[in-house]
Amino acid sequence: MTARKKRIAVLASGRGSNLQSLLDACVAPDYPAAVSLVIVNVPGAKAIDRAQQAGVPVEVINHKDYAGREPFDAAIDAALRKADIELVCLAGFMRLLTPGFTRAWEGRLLNIHPSLLPAYPGLHTHRRALEAGDKFHGCTIHFVTPDLDAGPTILQQAVPVQDGDDEDKLAARVLEAEHVLYPAALKLVAEGRARMENGKTVIESLDS
Ligand code: GRF
Repeated sequence: MTARKKRIAVLASGRGSNLQSLLDACVAPDYPAAVSLVIVNVPGAKAIDRAQQAGVPVEVINHKDYAGREPFDAAIDAALRKADIELVCLAGFMRLLTPGFTRAWEGRLLNIHPSLLPAYPGLHTHRRALEAGDKFHGCTIHFVTPDLDAGPTILQQAVPVQDGDDEDKLAARVLEAEHVLYPAALKLVAEGRARMENGKTVIESLDS
């Protein structure tokens, strides 16, 4: 018998290509998660269309409608709980979350970041990798903790930097890797094969 799919929410702010990769992965009957809710904080963002196209409920929770980070995060938390969400995936979600929120969802909150963390937390990662002359760049999926881009890594994918790369070319190559890596990491977490314990990620054998 196929196990019940975990109910996940995806939080996005813009283009939503990583949201799309998760929506696409979740369609497979044997994939252990289903996107049950999409939350977008920017009205008109492409991520909203992607959710609607996939027939997934989408809520626009605009940070500008809230007096500060805490009431904004409380609104997100309430929407997640109302929808019985079990795991939350940040996918290009461009708001810092409060420590109270990240602690409440610790071990159940994932983020994708376009660098090989701990290199280049924050913004403009592709430009910084090029400026540093790195030969490898890449992407990271990690559990979210109160510190920005600092939680324990679940999976990483290195991407070679090629002669003649500019920011756009490198970003496009990393994005292709992101679209494979996020569904793979979510699968591990949804199956209980990757989990956060004492501030570290524990992963059971990838072969089993
Ligand atoms: C991705 O590069 C992701 O790693 C970063 O923001 C970008 C979002 O792209 N956090 P998209 O909205 O998923 O297309």
